[in-house]
Amino acid sequence: MRGRGLHFRFHLWLALLFALIAASFGISVKNQSVRCIAAERRALLDFKKGLIDYDNSLNLLVSWTSKEEECCKWKGVGYDNTTGHVVMLDLRPRIIYGIFGGSWTSISDFIGSLYDLTYLNLSSNPLTGFIPHQLGSLSRLVYLDLSTDNFDQSLISDNLEWLSHLSSLKLLKISHTNFTKATNWPQVIQSHPSLSVLHFEYCDFAEVDPSSLVHFNSSNSLSVLHLIWSSSLHPSTFPLLLNISRNLVELDLHHNQLSSLIPDSFDNMPALEKINFEDNSLKGGIPKSLGNLCHLKELNLRDNKLSGPLTFAVTNLSGILEILFLDENNFNGSLPSFVRFSSLRELNVAYNRLSGHFEDNFGNFSKITVLDLDENRITGPLLDLSKLSSLKKLSLRGNQLDGLLPVNIGKLSHLVLLDVSNNSLHDVIFEGHLFNLTKLRYLLISFNALSFNLSSNWTPPFQLDFIKMSSCKIGPQFPSWLRKKTNFFHLDISYSNISDNIPYWFWNLPLRLMFLDLSFNQISGRVPNLPLKFDRIPLIDLSSNLFHGPIPQFLSKSTTLDLSNNMFNGPLSYLCTNKDSGLSYLDLSNNLLSGGIPDCWIKSRRLTIINLENNNLSGVIPTSLGSVETLQSLRLRNTSLHGEIPQSLNSCTQLRLLDLGENKLTGIIPPWIGERLENLIVLRLRSNNFHGNIPSTLCHQQFLKVLDLSLNNISGAIPSCFNNLTTMAHLGSSAATIEFYATAFFGRTFDDNLLVIWKGVEQEYGKILGLLRLIDLSCNKLSGEISREIASLHGLIALNLSRNIMFDLSFLSVLDLSNDNLSGKIPLDTQLQSFNATCFAGNSRLCRDPLNKCPGDESPKLPNNRGTEIIAESDEELFEPLWFVTGMIARFLVGFWGVFCFLLISRFWRHKYFQLVNKLGDWIKLTMALETVKLQLRLRLKD
Ligand SMILES: *[C@@H]1O[C@H](CO)[C@@H](O)[C@H](O)[C@H]1NC(C)=O
Ligand SMILES: *[C@@H]1O[C@H](CO)[C@@H](O)[C@H](O)[C@H]1NC(C)=O
Ligand SMILES: *[C@@H]1O[C@H](CO)[C@@H](O)[C@H](O)[C@H]1NC(C)=O
Ligand SMILES: *[C@@H]1O[C@H](CO)[C@@H](O)[C@H](O)[C@H]1NC(C)=O
Ligand SMILES: *[C@@H]1O[C@H](CO)[C@@H](O)[C@H](O)[C@H]1NC(C)=O
Repeated sequence: MRGRGLHFRFHLWLALLFALIAASFGISVKNQSVRCIAAERRALLDFKKGLIDYDNSLNLLVSWTSKEEECCKWKGVGYDNTTGHVVMLDLRPRIIYGIFGGSWTSISDFIGSLYDLTYLNLSSNPLTGFIPHQLGSLSRLVYLDLSTDNFDQSLISDNLEWLSHLSSLKLLKISHTNFTKATNWPQVIQSHPSLSVLHFEYCDFAEVDPSSLVHFNSSNSLSVLHLIWSSSLHPSTFPLLLNISRNLVELDLHHNQLSSLIPDSFDNMPALEKINFEDNSLKGGIPKSLGNLCHLKELNLRDNKLSGPLTFAVTNLSGILEILFLDENNFNGSLPSFVRFSSLRELNVAYNRLSGHFEDNFGNFSKITVLDLDENRITGPLLDLSKLSSLKKLSLRGNQLDGLLPVNIGKLSHLVLLDVSNNSLHDVIFEGHLFNLTKLRYLLISFNALSFNLSSNWTPPFQLDFIKMSSCKIGPQFPSWLRKKTNFFHLDISYSNISDNIPYWFWNLPLRLMFLDLSFNQISGRVPNLPLKFDRIPLIDLSSNLFHGPIPQFLSKSTTLDLSNNMFNGPLSYLCTNKDSGLSYLDLSNNLLSGGIPDCWIKSRRLTIINLENNNLSGVIPTSLGSVETLQSLRLRNTSLHGEIPQSLNSCTQLRLLDLGENKLTGIIPPWIGERLENLIVLRLRSNNFHGNIPSTLCHQQFLKVLDLSLNNISGAIPSCFNNLTTMAHLGSSAATIEFYATAFFGRTFDDNLLVIWKGVEQEYGKILGLLRLIDLSCNKLSGEISREIASLHGLIALNLSRNIMFDLSFLSVLDLSNDNLSGKIPLDTQLQSFNATCFAGNSRLCRDPLNKCPGDESPKLPNNRGTEIIAESDEELFEPLWFVTGMIARFLVGFWGVFCFLLISRFWRHKYFQLVNKLGDWIKLTMALETVKLQLRLRLKD
């Protein structure tokens, strides 16, 4: 946003410049009395033949008629009202096409003939080819803009000699140009007599010879240099750019992949007022000479790799700075005192490693409007910042602040954004805190220990757009102040202890709603079916509440709809009423929905995730689900579905998770699952009535991590090609989570979780699902050998083959029983006995009922030992199945910390950190449980 601001200012500047030019040359764009010069008119008409009107509505070329008397009405052409010469050509935007391409010869003649031209603007046109040297004959040119918008092809300039002939030129803008052959560009610029503003964007440069530059006794006119988004700037060019003109006022080198130290040569540019080195990889600290710049007002070093104590770095800065951005670097140490910088208007040191307490770091800054200290490690209580009376944005998110929220914050009457989320503040917010915040629009206080004490008839002084109060204690009543003067587009009051009936007025939601999260409360009531038409399709999360009644149609007009864990009932037919649905994430699991799944998915072109599990649905899997080709996760577990898996699902080739478990599905396991659904990570068909063989096509699966076909009537042998299951066969790291990419919602990804039932115990795997490697074929009618190949699935953590018919564990002959603490009997004989109806018998003493928990049963844990293991639990459990467990806690940790570190370094995902920490608790529990697993019999399998 700030970038755009600068840009805007820059354009304003250009407009002024042009106004000056226009005044001095007496340009008349539509002066009827002027007669045009015939030769120029003919040249323009010739020129027109090579052009295509990109945007017909502008009628630019149409206005270039051949009638002589109408030449003054030609759009984009300006004449000198005394001489009649063409002095201005403004052919933006997107009017001409490729003029520097093939037909250049005629164009060069044309341009060469307009020798009075002072203004030539060809910007925003898809120019390609060589920049013509003939431009050099336009000696009166003041303004030349060749910035194209062509990312595919670039302009080429093999020599900038022509530029030195433009002796009146003040402004030059060029973009997407390959200058690799024009190695003389710094000299041309440095010795140019008039050039004042130079703008290179997305250009390519070769290494230049620094010794070829003249020294600084010559006066140089260049005052503004923007050289940005170049991917090929040679490291030696950076110091050279800091030597190019003594009169530089503005130097913008952002996004250039510069990775050196910042050269200590700012003494060469004493006039500098603005420096922007944002988004490079600059290292080290801030050089001393920067502090000598006594006109420097704006310094932007955001998003680099600068390091060292910040206290030290700021000693090298001049006290007259007004804007200072040092965010997203590696500065450390305590938060320095900025008292010396009394002119500061904007200060941003977010995303560094600053620690320590607040002291009086900011004095009485009366001019400061932006203070951003996000994502550091600042501890202790928050200062009374009410002296910073002009503050508009105060952002302290993601620190370790504790103590109270100073009530004087309510005096900041200019405050627009207040963000103290993700700290440890504990306080009761009352009206005084918000008293004078009349301009507040963004209130972000999530993840603290804050609660509210506001009277029920309190009228907020503000009109909020953006409200984030997750995990604040707002309840038990629904906040009535939301009714008054609030036209939010983002509301998050999840985890906020509300246990109330939702008021009807609430559903009269603002039409500009983009995000609504009421999840994890105990909000009850119905959602009325209001005829709401949102401006943009919002994200709606009402999950884990007590809502009941039918799901109203308007809710389905969202990109993400999570209504899981409620008591919604009634049919799903509303899903069919949308024409082209923007829905990409649909979670209606754990409700009381009934009826069939409607067969209307043909209109849902963006759906990535569908979860309808645990409802009272019935009927068959609708064929039209197969038309949702974007589908990555389909979960229909425990929904009383019958019939076969429709063939149409073979079009859902993006599927990564398919869970149809605990239904009444019949038929065979379709072979196309193996052939077509190549991206499957989880295939769970547990507890259905599937029969037939395990199709050998399943061996094609390269990514499969969870294969659960247990509790069916599957017969035949395990395909011997199972060793081909790539992921299972290899150790190696993998992501802990399985992420799903929901296209429609800003490219946001979702993690999925899975209920794994292992030895009768349910365990929800969320953030670590991706680490699980499990094959469960138990309780089927499989027969024949367990091939040696299955033992080569080294990555496998758990394998359950129990309760099938007769196994011949031929590979056990390679078991090495030495060197292990064996106790109890080796259950080889009994282990190999057949299990048939016992799978379903409720004989709890023998622990055979797979649906009931057996004493001592554990979920597949990731044991803290190395190697493939077969675990049997105890003597009494000789009937227990054979467990192959090859979990590796080390691998687990690597995976887990891999994700964790990724979060720390990835700016985009940092905000998900807290969610992760919530799950971390689960993970620790899991690990602890794991430690307690008693491994009474341990057989190490040798390769
Ligand atoms: C040219 O036109 C401009 C604006 O229309 C006017 O201000 C200026 O006086 C004119 N110059 C002459 C020489 O007529
Ligand atoms: C620029 O041009 C040179 C040859 O003049 C060529 O080798 C190089 O690949 C071009 N660079 C780009 C980015 O097109
Ligand atoms: C609120 O602002 C008004 C006017 O700016 C001021 O007079 C008043 O003292 C302020 N009140 C508080 C509690 O800060
Ligand atoms: C093994 O998997 C590959 C793909 O990873 C597949 O091309 C091949 O056919 C599979 N082999 C068998 C025997 O299924
Ligand atoms: C289960 O197997 C036992 C012997 O192993 C047999 O006596 C019994 O009839 C079988 N039950 C069923 C339902 O097949």
